[in-house]
Amino acid sequence: MARDRRDSYYWQAKSDGHRSRAAFKLTQINKKFEVINEGDTVVDLGAAPGGWLQVAKKISGGRVIGVDLQRIKPIDGVDTVKGDMTADRTIEKIIKLVGEGGADVVICDAAPNLSGNWSLDHGRSIALVTSALECAKKILKPQGHFVVKVFEGDMFKDYIDEVRNSFTYVRAYTPKASRTQSAEIYIIGKKFLTAPLRKGDKFEVTIEKLGSSGDGAVVIKGFVTFVKDVKVGEHVRIKIDDVKPNFAFANVIERL
Ligand SMILES: C[S@@+](CC[C@H](N)C(=O)[O-])C[C@H]1O[C@@H](n2cnc3c(N)ncnc32)[C@H](O)[C@@H]1O
Repeated sequence: MARDRRDSYYWQAKSDGHRSRAAFKLTQINKKFEVINEGDTVVDLGAAPGGWLQVAKKISGGRVIGVDLQRIKPIDGVDTVKGDMTADRTIEKIIKLVGEGGADVVICDAAPNLSGNWSLDHGRSIALVTSALECAKKILKPQGHFVVKVFEGDMFKDYIDEVRNSFTYVRAYTPKASRTQSAEIYIIGKKFLTAPLRKGDKFEVTIEKLGSSGDGAVVIKGFVTFVKDVKVGEHVRIKIDDVKPNFAFANVIERL
């Protein structure tokens, strides 16, 4: 006999009027990481049937946009786009709906068609979430947040490193509402970085002055960077060690 996959979350979703048991995952993610806040503009990629949209709308009360290959049945106060989130045409439609200010949050629970072949499904998931990250980078406001579902596998680490490149704070998390046998993990990226520098970048600089903490300070591509253990006027090669929303830290790798 086929196993009944409907669990307590399914029945709870039904009695709460949620369109999917997935709604609990977003509720649990948001409780822990506070990605969606009141008034936020939220874009949900891979949103059908609409459980996450219902949760996002309830929390933000602001502009909420859902995108899916499938038609999403209307939800009060939610805009929907029927289209492929990996296609430029769809991204252009989303950008128009979001407006010039950009989105505060991009969430993506999209799943590829599963074949049952673990590595094939992982590869498809990575391709989809790579598109989701590209889309998020085009539509997020500086300091905006990103949540994305990934199926575990050997490309997971490279992908989370990609997310780390664009967000200040990044965590991987499996909400309780995910099925225990499921391979899905959610990546939460907070505070979208629009800084022109990235961790690991190298530069040759002359220290211009000392900051209040005693670290040297230089401006690189218009971005203040603090360098440890240097004197004013010193000419050094540095490596960026950490990038914060408004400044970066670097270490000296060579004194010139
Ligand atoms: C697990 S469901 C999302 C459930 C949703 N979070 C909810 O709470 O109702 C995954 C969705 O991703 C969508 N999807 C997969 N690939 C997509 C793509 N390239 N563009 C848009 N949607 C896609 C599927 O059509 C499916 O509806």
